[in-house]
Amino acid sequence: MTERIFNFSAGPAVLPMPVLEEAQRDMLSLPGVGMSVMEISHRSKTFDEIFGRAEAGLRELLGIPDNYHVLFLQGGASLQFSMIPMNFLPQGGSADFIITGSWGKKALKEAKRAGATNVAATMSDGGFTRVPGSDELKLDPKAAYVHITTNETIEGVEWKHEPEVGAVPLVADASSDILSHPITVDKYALIYAGAQKNMGPSGVTLVIMRDDLLQRIPEGLHTMLDYRTHVENKSLYNTPNTWGIYIISLVCKWLLEKGGLEAMHRENEKKAQLIYDIVDATGFYRGHADHDSRSIMNVTFRLPSEELEKKFTSEATAQGMDGLKGHRSVGGIRASIYNAFPRSGVEALVSFMKEFEKKNG
Ligand SMILES: Cc1ncc(COP(=O)(O)O)c(C=O)c1O
Repeated sequence: MTERIFNFSAGPAVLPMPVLEEAQRDMLSLPGVGMSVMEISHRSKTFDEIFGRAEAGLRELLGIPDNYHVLFLQGGASLQFSMIPMNFLPQGGSADFIITGSWGKKALKEAKRAGATNVAATMSDGGFTRVPGSDELKLDPKAAYVHITTNETIEGVEWKHEPEVGAVPLVADASSDILSHPITVDKYALIYAGAQKNMGPSGVTLVIMRDDLLQRIPEGLHTMLDYRTHVENKSLYNTPNTWGIYIISLVCKWLLEKGGLEAMHRENEKKAQLIYDIVDATGFYRGHADHDSRSIMNVTFRLPSEELEKKFTSEATAQGMDGLKGHRSVGGIRASIYNAFPRSGVEALVSFMKEFEKKNG
């Protein structure tokens, strides 16, 4: 098959066509280099430039202040679930967690291995359909940090504003909405994100970390698990995911050409609204998340029965729309519509949804 289909996968996810085309064009030889990016030293001048473009692109797009480090690590966002408490949850201290879905639960599970935790709020009762209001948070003013998941990929629940956490450092897993809208980086002490949704391929994890946090790291951690190693060695202590960093550099260039994150945000909101409008139109489709917490990246909804949901995904696949099956833990349908997902694909889904309802409603 050479025709591309509409890929609604939650991740690894669709990448921008111009990025794939440029990578394809330069696959055998980067211009003037005579080798592919996967075959050159991570300490070469060529890679240094690629690395510089990835970091500069992210700094420009996200407005990352100078007192924040930008790291490209490995082990996925999942390793950050462990590294963060190992580095920043001191003995005798406690970390606050606000749980709005499945990924936050996983982050909490790992933090518990490292030290004390406090669940400042969990939205599990309603099946993770929303973020909590400020009056629902039982924050510990002495907490080492507060952890949130800015967008819960499985449930399709997204924070629209950062919670008010006072002087306590805010730590965020932004794996599935990083680069989908502008953020004020200095509201956070640390932001981390696996690349494979909105930034690039899997195997590279972005960490944006405020410099003063380094002073909190205890002695004696394993070298690779100590953030200072990666800061001091500019993410090159060991061999990084050179291909992943290269693709991130191309994605950043594409985003800047598209007008940056404000423009992306407007487009993402329009795309998501097209689907939510159909979800809300009749009682046939039922949105999973509450209106105020609806994700613009992962649109989750149910149909009247599991049988119809199966029929929906298989007929959609037959029409060139793949990856719509909801996560096994919540079922239903999930349309992941990251930055690179085209509006035409959303329009195709919307007409399919209308037709499907007509035939089966
Ligand atoms: C919000 C969120 N956090 C963490 C992860 C886990 O990331 P990784 O597979 O990179 O460890 C995912 C999904 O991949 C995710 O969507």
